Amino acid sequence: MEDLDLDYLDLFLIHWPNPIAFRDNWQEANAGSWKAFEELYRDGRIRAIGVSNFWQHHIDALMETATIAPMVNQIRLCPGCTQEALVDYCRSNRILLEAYSPLGTGKVFQVPEMKHLSEKYGRSIAQICIRWSLQRGYLPLPKSVTPARILENAKVFDFQLDEADMDLINKLEGCAGSSRDPDAADF
Ligand SMILES: NC(=O)c1ccc[n+]([C@@H]2O[C@H](COP(=O)([O-])OP(=O)(O)OC[C@H]3O[C@@H](n4cnc5c(N)ncnc54)[C@H](OP(=O)(O)O)[C@@H]3O)[C@@H](O)[C@H]2O)c1
Repeated sequence: MEDLDLDYLDLFLIHWPNPIAFRDNWQEANAGSWKAFEELYRDGRIRAIGVSNFWQHHIDALMETATIAPMVNQIRLCPGCTQEALVDYCRSNRILLEAYSPLGTGKVFQVPEMKHLSEKYGRSIAQICIRWSLQRGYLPLPKSVTPARILENAKVFDFQLDEADMDLINKLEGCAGSSRDPDAADF
């Protein structure tokens, strides 16, 4: 925080539940990190604490020693990658879903159905994706280094996708890649 010249952080996450370095003792490693997170949260140094790429069994393991439940799970959610069971579990435990790679790291721009919807609504494919994400109840986290695109990506609050089109996007299974198994990642 000194390096950032900030008094507090808005959000802090455990990035990966089970990296190779902790594959034999990830439960213990996460419990230790979480204890430090809880202290920083209670001290007001971090406003919200959460996890990323955690599946249900990782959250369940964390909850064995946690005194504060994760407030956020940042996972890959984009057209065709909806992780329904995990989303339901997070929702039922009041864990906010932060959708990373909401544009499929650029892969959505090649999907014909997305091109069609872009023409139908007169919005860019990025805006259609972000709107879909918001209507699903996620907090989308699009990334751009291009100022005009950052502005474009924020202009998503003056239109709505109808139910049939939401369904169409939901069903584009795998169109923009899928999430990795956190227990089998090669890092
Ligand atoms: N927790 C995790 O494990 C994890 C994993 C992956 C990503 N993330 C985070 O999620 C965020 C986004 O993920 P991401 O970068 O993979 O993918 P993304 O946001 O789905 O897509 C980014 C790509 O889309 C382009 N783009 C953005 N807005 C656009 C627009 N309006 N029109 C055309 N192209 C547009 C960007 O290009 P330009 O930048 O060139 O404009 C970039 O190539 C990042 O902050 C990243 O750190 C987290």
